[in-house]
Amino acid sequence: MNYTSPITYPSPQGYGAGNWSASYVKAQTLVANMSLEEMNNVTLGVPDPSNGCVGVSGGAPRLGFPGLCLHDAGNGVRNTDGVSGFASGLHIGASWNATLAYERALYMGAEFKRKGVNVALGPVVGPIGRIAEGGRNWEGFAADPFLNGMLGAQSVLGLQESVIASVKHFVAYEQETNRNPIGNNGGTILSTSANLDDETMHELYLWPFQDLVQAGAGCVMCSYNRINGTYACENSKAINGLLKGELNFQGFVVSDWVGQHSGIPSANAGLDMAMPTTSYWNERQLENAANSGALNKTRLIDMATRVIATWYQFGQDQALPLGAGMPVNLLLPHNYTEAKDPASRPSLLQQAVEGHVLVKNTNNALPLQSPKVLSVFGYDAIQQASYVPDGNLFPQNWEAVTLQMPQLADIGSNEPMQNPPATMNGTLVVGGGSGSNTPPYISTPFDAIQARAYHNGTAVFFDFASTDPAVVASSNACLVFINEYSSEVWDRPGLADQDSDALVSNVASHCNNTIVVVHNAGARLVDAWIDNPNVTAVMFAHLPGQDAGRALAQILYGDVSPSGRLPYTVAKQASDYGNLLSACQAHGSSSPQCDFTEGSNIDYRAFLARNITPRYEFGFGLTFTTFDYADLQININATATPEDTLFPVYTNGTTNSNHNNTAIGPGGLQSLFESVGTISARITNTGNVSAAEVAQLYIQIPSPTTNSSNPRTRVLRGFEKIMIEPKQTKRVGFNLRMKDVSYWNVTRQAWIVPGGRFEVGVGKSVLDLPLTGSFGT
Ligand code: NOJ
Repeated sequence: MNYTSPITYPSPQGYGAGNWSASYVKAQTLVANMSLEEMNNVTLGVPDPSNGCVGVSGGAPRLGFPGLCLHDAGNGVRNTDGVSGFASGLHIGASWNATLAYERALYMGAEFKRKGVNVALGPVVGPIGRIAEGGRNWEGFAADPFLNGMLGAQSVLGLQESVIASVKHFVAYEQETNRNPIGNNGGTILSTSANLDDETMHELYLWPFQDLVQAGAGCVMCSYNRINGTYACENSKAINGLLKGELNFQGFVVSDWVGQHSGIPSANAGLDMAMPTTSYWNERQLENAANSGALNKTRLIDMATRVIATWYQFGQDQALPLGAGMPVNLLLPHNYTEAKDPASRPSLLQQAVEGHVLVKNTNNALPLQSPKVLSVFGYDAIQQASYVPDGNLFPQNWEAVTLQMPQLADIGSNEPMQNPPATMNGTLVVGGGSGSNTPPYISTPFDAIQARAYHNGTAVFFDFASTDPAVVASSNACLVFINEYSSEVWDRPGLADQDSDALVSNVASHCNNTIVVVHNAGARLVDAWIDNPNVTAVMFAHLPGQDAGRALAQILYGDVSPSGRLPYTVAKQASDYGNLLSACQAHGSSSPQCDFTEGSNIDYRAFLARNITPRYEFGFGLTFTTFDYADLQININATATPEDTLFPVYTNGTTNSNHNNTAIGPGGLQSLFESVGTISARITNTGNVSAAEVAQLYIQIPSPTTNSSNPRTRVLRGFEKIMIEPKQTKRVGFNLRMKDVSYWNVTRQAWIVPGGRFEVGVGKSVLDLPLTGSFGT
């Protein structure tokens, strides 16, 4: 592929679009009193050994701006004490519950705030999950832009009740392999270049960012990779053109840690803050350049104004002293800050419950019916041997830390990926790296089973060490716990490990009611044993956070029906993912390239486009009941179709649109978010237990893609999770936004609602759509 990233200047200035105007007025007043040196200072990270924030920005103390504490990450406050271990992004993706996503972020944001953090470095909507082995797929919600956009937007809203959310990683950051340059001075081997076309950028990778910016995100973190040949943090097309231009982003752009690779070019490209320190801006380079004319002064003013406006916009001028609750090193004496809120406990448990996806359940294996004898196997049933967060994340250590992650700080694991993966170290409740969190305790599966045994009078036998354990013959069921670990820095070496597969098969050879639970940080293959008739039930338990065991027991024992659905595709064999299995390699090149030749067809779209039947499809998950779908109703506003042209915005405060709704705000043209109608259906719980259904809407847009080898497939455009009692019928409704029925027209540089018929499917997964219909011309 031969794409280049066009220079897009000038950098759009923030001006107070939407509800940002009061903050901009205040920020402009403050910045008007700043010297160029002070402006320079607020654009960069400074070493601050007084706290454990992973990044601290320079301040302007004379004017009352103390700087900002930035800290990881999107799944809870990392590497400290007094905080909660929330369910991970992927687990929330598997819950398909937007309300829960909001609630989680609300409590999480409050913890960051009580810790004196101003900027929470999340949520993650990139990587989106282009490759199945992607090391950070678990930090985001789903291998789908719509689900990411919806759950990510709720997360931004929840977090920003307390702090600034830093949406990351912008953009097309889909692999860990060669994520950073290797060597000195920017690298003798550069970061991988994600090479993609404009249509794919808009319809897939930019899509969720637009929803999160529209939700008001205050900060965006640019990513490590190159985009069409140019580093993301100096990519003027991406930052100036797409983010600040088209999406009309009003907040500030921060570099990923050590992700800045140039001085003036990165400033001109729209980077506003460099973290955790910078060799490019810290010697007053920006001030000097503004004085000499090498950098337009308005750009430096805009950088400072964006930072200060965001600080005001989210009430950070009223925040606790910077980093107040963030000890430098937990192993040294420090003041303890209680950041947990007792009121959050039911929500934490509910988050943990709802991300469990039951994919096989034969012979009524689940729920367990007052078992007399249970056998429990597998390294994942119990706690890992040690868990001591070490603190010590402050900037001076950053480069060392980044090479060593995951470190002791990360509960997910303390070993790097190996082949086979280092999985044998205790129950997995969160992945590794900066997305990890710090649970105050971990409820393990075995703890929870033991507690139930006390109440039920069950005899529990166990063996957590052997790969071919002996099985007590009277066992009513054998529970096998395995996991699939993943972490920042490494892509996974595979989608399953032989040791865990052997354990399952061995137990199944001795036990005809073998129930497998997999704590998985990404898609995990199961075909080594899925058809074994003795494997009666299989649960993808994902990354539930601190209440893992307690939540799982609620489902195993039937207190609740499982309500999670897969937010990615599980193939029958690794090769079914094709070129989307593994990371692109450098192949000896000093400029590694990754051609996104599949366009928008990743995950389920790739399986549809190539007509490959997966083992378990996107959206799939079993409950303890059955649901019936009926009465599809399609009410689409006829004036919205056919052919309604929407032009994006390129310049500050003005638009070249001839569409009658020219309002622009954060997120860009606001008419993209207006409703064009609703689609609804009736769902009846035809079984005997109450359960939540996740009704899903898929739409096939009737226009070809620019790349004829990538046919357009149906795509997710609505979902609703709804609790339905036995024999009860409820109607679910999906609101369709203009954006949801548009495609990106590269030639016209516009979102367009095409003429033609839109195919509609409503149902239980991307492959199970009992109701079909259409609208359009
Ligand atoms: C690198 C990671 O890519 C990013 O997600 C994280 O927030 C920063 N480091 C800070 O730890």
